[in-house]
Amino acid sequence: MKIALGSDHGGYELKELIKNHLEEKGIEYVDCGTNSTESVDYPEFGRKVAETVKEGTCELGIVCCGTGIGISISANKVPGIRCALCSDCYSARMSKEHNNANVLALGARVLGRDLAMEIVDTWIESEFQGGRHERRVNKISDIENKFVI
Ligand code: RB5
Repeated sequence: MKIALGSDHGGYELKELIKNHLEEKGIEYVDCGTNSTESVDYPEFGRKVAETVKEGTCELGIVCCGTGIGISISANKVPGIRCALCSDCYSARMSKEHNNANVLALGARVLGRDLAMEIVDTWIESEFQGGRHERRVNKISDIENKFVI
C-alpha cells in the first residue's frame, strides 16, 4: 500500500509527523507537498493528492490543512475521490467501512498529535464492508456522473 500525503502551510507540520509515523510502520508514501510553513493555497495540494489517488499511483491519500475543511472540499472535487474529514477514530473507521473513503482529511489546528496518529492508524487499518454500503457508494458515483461535463 502506498499513501499520497499533502498539506498546505497550516497542515505542513502534521504532514511531516504523519510521514515519520508511516516510516516507522514501514508504509510507503508519496509526498505531494507543501514543503514548508510558507503560505500556500490548500486547493493545489488537495488536488495533487486526489489526482495521485485517482490515477492509481497511490491507493489512499491523507490531506491536512488548518481545519481540514478547505483541503477536503478541494480533494472531493476530483471525480472518484471520497475524502472524509475526521476528528475521531469512530468516524475514521466508519468512513472506510461504510463510505469507502479513499482520502482522509485532518485538521492540524483541531487535533493533538497523538489523536491524529490514532485516527491515521484506525483509518488505514479499516476496510470497506461492501454489501448495502456498495450500493450507496455507487449512488455517490451516480451523482458525479450526472454533473461531470
Ligand atoms: C490557512 O490559513 C487555512 O485557511 C487553511 O489551512 C484551512 O484551514 C482551510 O480550510
